[in-house]
Amino acid sequence: MTVLPTISFAKSAAPKKGTAVFLVAKGGKPPALAAEIDPSGVIARAMEVSSFDGKAKSVVDIVAPAGSPVDRILILGVGEPEKVGEGDWTALGGLLRGKTASDKAVSALLECEGMEISPEAAAGFAQGMLLRAYDFDKYKTKKKDNGDDKPVAQKATLMVDNTAAAKKAWSEAEGVARGIMLARDLVNEPANILGPVEFAARAEALSALGVEIEILTEKEMKKLGMGALLGVAQGSVRPPRLVVMKWNGGKAKDKPVAFIGKGVVFDTGGISIKPAGGMEDMKGDMGGAAAVTGLMHALAARNAKANVIGIIGLVENMPDGNAQRPGDIVTSMSGQTIEVINTDAEGRLVLCDALWYCKETYQPKFMINLATLTGAILIALGQNRAGLFCNDDELAGQIFESGEATGEKVWRMPMGPEYDKMIDSKFADMKNVGGRHAGSITAAQFLKRFVGDVPWSHLDIAGTAMSSPATDTNQSWGSGYGVRLLDRLVADHYEG
Ligand code: BES
Ligand code: MN
Ligand code: ZN
Repeated sequence: MTVLPTISFAKSAAPKKGTAVFLVAKGGKPPALAAEIDPSGVIARAMEVSSFDGKAKSVVDIVAPAGSPVDRILILGVGEPEKVGEGDWTALGGLLRGKTASDKAVSALLECEGMEISPEAAAGFAQGMLLRAYDFDKYKTKKKDNGDDKPVAQKATLMVDNTAAAKKAWSEAEGVARGIMLARDLVNEPANILGPVEFAARAEALSALGVEIEILTEKEMKKLGMGALLGVAQGSVRPPRLVVMKWNGGKAKDKPVAFIGKGVVFDTGGISIKPAGGMEDMKGDMGGAAAVTGLMHALAARNAKANVIGIIGLVENMPDGNAQRPGDIVTSMSGQTIEVINTDAEGRLVLCDALWYCKETYQPKFMINLATLTGAILIALGQNRAGLFCNDDELAGQIFESGEATGEKVWRMPMGPEYDKMIDSKFADMKNVGGRHAGSITAAQFLKRFVGDVPWSHLDIAGTAMSSPATDTNQSWGSGYGVRLLDRLVADHYEG
């Protein structure tokens, strides 16, 4: 079982036991307090011997000398002060946790010569420690309960200048970390355990935080005319759900902002079935819905002063005697008809009804959808940036900046009428694929036909949500990508 560290904040002082941690900026030296635990000047010597110069993420790891009250001393390089952003503090906290996972007591002095460490930076550092400790091991029956892998209940003490301010910032950042870990849990969970109904139940649990939940069943979606979403669901014995999460933290008269997530709990491709190799990854095809659910958790937990709607379309895409066929024509809630050329392009069919429903029901300030929508976005951008598609330059700019600040980065992709015409159909208003070229863009053009005049953005997170490379802040398959990005967007532009 994951044992998360217990984090507390204290006034700056010399660490008294366990592992002591100090920060050093590029070309700088350790804070004066370090001398108190270093009677023989071993820190300076070790820095010199290892040519440590404070470069970002460089580490000096020392067994404390006789006469010191602590056991181990870690010096972390912070890099050039003017280049250290919010995401870098989180990464640094994660790096520290990675180095000290089996240490019972860690005391880090968050002071650095030549730079001011804000309460938010300290909270980000703590967030990184928590996120790095996350481990999805609930199905490992041979628990690591002895030997070197024995999980330790770590007590981490972060020493700062202003403890009250750091504690306040942490109370918010911790809520965001919990939201990220919820999103990871949902992505990592296998599809036999997490069907649409079970996913809806996990979302429903957010009511404990004051999130209002509404769950639409198949019958209700039929009545609304959601023929595109229901066409995908019809091949599965497990019925679909559409979950609406509402967080009313803003003024009553304020229009809400809205986030919409693709929640395909498993994507076999349907009748246009996928090849067997790697198909197990398609348990993560609900990464968009997971991010929206994690985001709602984060916003509620930190009591965000905004009105926010989260909508997730939950279905399973299966081949079956009752599954939809290539060539079928379905009618979406908007009234527009769609020729289903490829049943594996199902995400857009789910999202188009969820987007239209959102727009009609809530007239939101903006809609942002997240979806593991296309393999093509992996070819274009790899695993470090999500594809950003947008009909509004201001919103696109805000999302881009939030990405740079948090480290959950995006890259804007082009859209336009020349791409839009690639999805015109011989038989219906549109078809669900546009051919081999520009696959991520034609998918976005499809969605755009369902958002009217609402400022809208689509984030293609097929490369960033799952199958994630190990980083300082994540060692798990699911990353929880999107929670931090969109929490920051709301915090910076849509609160108060
Ligand atoms: N869920 C997939 C996209 C995907 C691929 C997500 C790899 C994560 C990793 C999506 O439903 C899909 O199958 N897209 C097709 C679209 C094609 C049929 C036009 C694809 O990308 O191949
Ligand atoms: Mn698919
Ligand atoms: Zn899919």
